Amino acid sequence: MNIFAFAGSSSSTSINHALVNATLKNFEDCTIEFIHLKDFAAPLFSVDIEKEQGHPEAAFRFLQGIEQADAIICSMAEHNRSYSAAFKSLFDWASRINVKVFQNKPMLLMSTSPGGYGGGNVMKEASTFFPQFAADIKATFSLPKFNEHFDREKGITDEILKEQHLNAIQTFRHSIGLP
Ligand SMILES: Cc1cc2nc3c(=O)[nH]c(=O)nc-3n(C[C@H](O)[C@H](O)[C@H](O)COP(=O)(O)O)c2cc1C
Repeated sequence: MNIFAFAGSSSSTSINHALVNATLKNFEDCTIEFIHLKDFAAPLFSVDIEKEQGHPEAAFRFLQGIEQADAIICSMAEHNRSYSAAFKSLFDWASRINVKVFQNKPMLLMSTSPGGYGGGNVMKEASTFFPQFAADIKATFSLPKFNEHFDREKGITDEILKEQHLNAIQTFRHSIGLP
């Protein structure tokens, strides 16, 4: 089983990247391509640039990673109640090449933020928006108050949230035929 994993953030210290990283420890029986958006630099989406220069190589690589995978694991950063500009711009580019960006792949969709809602606004948005771009969302999880509830070595420290996280992982694993 091939998994394509990413966080919707270009920050080198991304907490969403850390959450995806911790989640992937439960997929050691899979082949994983875990990308970082900071390695997918592209100009801010512009129809003028599109006309003059075509589509950036990073957007093709992003789509190719999804194409080669059986399933997607991702966690969205929340900026002003929506996607980070880095993710939205790369997504916009990708959607101009293939509007079915997520290519009907099963998805475990997560979010986290330092706030009490855990990126709940971007989660709500992505939960309805991603399926319109051919994401097959199988399970979701939001981690509130990342700095209180997450340890970079131990993972999620709050017992209730840890159980919710494991439940989402189990639901997702079963949905893609993993034990
Ligand atoms: C421009 C900006 C806007 C933000 N807006 C929100 C917000 O609406 N809701 C929220 O929970 N956190 C917000 N935050 C805090 C982010 O959740 C926090 O920076 C988090 O670390 C982003 O995820 P990342 O580390 O994976 O990039 C914002 C941060 C920035 C820089």
